Amino acid sequence: MFEAITAAPPDAILGLTEAFKLDANPRKVNLGAGVFVDETGRTPILASVKAAEAAILAAAQTKSYMPIAGDPTYRRLVQELVFGAEHPALRDQRARTAHTPGGTAALRVGADFLRKFFPQASVWLSKPTWTNHRGVFTAAGFTVKEYPYYNPATKELDHAAFLAALRQIPAGDVVLLHACCHNPTGVDLTPAQWAEVAAIAAARRWLPFVDFAYQGYGDGLEPDRASVLALAAQCPELLIASSFSKNFGLYQDRTGALTLLAADAHAAGATFSNIESVIRVNYSNPPAHGSLIVSHILTTPELKRQWLGELDAMRHHISGVRHKFVAGLQAHGAPGNFDFIARQKGMFSFSGLSDAQVAWLRVERSIYIVAGGRINVAGITPANFDYLCAALAAALRA
Ligand code: LMR
Repeated sequence: MFEAITAAPPDAILGLTEAFKLDANPRKVNLGAGVFVDETGRTPILASVKAAEAAILAAAQTKSYMPIAGDPTYRRLVQELVFGAEHPALRDQRARTAHTPGGTAALRVGADFLRKFFPQASVWLSKPTWTNHRGVFTAAGFTVKEYPYYNPATKELDHAAFLAALRQIPAGDVVLLHACCHNPTGVDLTPAQWAEVAAIAAARRWLPFVDFAYQGYGDGLEPDRASVLALAAQCPELLIASSFSKNFGLYQDRTGALTLLAADAHAAGATFSNIESVIRVNYSNPPAHGSLIVSHILTTPELKRQWLGELDAMRHHISGVRHKFVAGLQAHGAPGNFDFIARQKGMFSFSGLSDAQVAWLRVERSIYIVAGGRINVAGITPANFDYLCAALAAALRA
């Protein structure tokens, strides 16, 4: 049965990491997958996470199954992170949350649930978007469409075209929005623009599905939720996919969540039971470890303070690298103005490199960048800085 099967292409992002590991060039640089890297080139385990793990290990009594939707304490804490603890939707029990294995599973569980109940819907993605969005929603059986978002000429949001497209999306369709740190462009909406989007969603009656993978990497944990709050202020129903890969550094522990907001507590309960059914026939119930770490940190005031400091430090580090990178490209004679890199939010910079330039950098310099020109800014370190800036300047001049 398997003899006629040909190999699948390598993953556009994670496949780069595998190719990078096999590259023998000692100067190789990986700017592919969105993973935080510190000054020394390592992806550290946060000190708050280490402390939480030690406490969890000492207190552990069982490895019995988790509930289908995961640990109830974690689920409540996720809602408080996403909406703020005082948000009326929490008081009114309009929100329900499931712990999913990472943000990707949150998207997939949400997609499978939507496809079951709304098979006629289309899913709208920003142009461009994270490559795996298309994969996830297509795998769930959806027809995927695109709305304009980024203007390559201005390196900014294509505001008029974006809003015009949102106004044309039919009622009952699903629109994937990036809460902050738009992946791959780093171009985010202002709070006023979020209010415009929310008003259109409410008037047109399409469903916002918010990808919230980078909370804390934009302007901070609380400012970054402005998008969700603006949508929740006008839209009675939302889906929100959270990831704690980046802000807690829990990449390999697959710690994410799917949060449902419904019009009232009854609708939330009934709808959520169907999300639990979707989970049960997929991975049954989530892996506990990451959720226990998040819960322990958020319920231990000293560790929470430490974690918030570590999160701020990661954000400030990336912002500092952005500014140095702009200066470095200019110093190495790269053609054009790169100030836009300093304005972009989150882990990524949409560099303006063409696919041909990306390929040249990989073949000639062992520098790994996602097709489309997305650079993981966090991957730039003092050790690779000059090599990178010189190579990118050469690629951009070619
Ligand atoms: C990325 O965009 O690089 C990360 O979210 C990692 C991934 O799973 O693609």
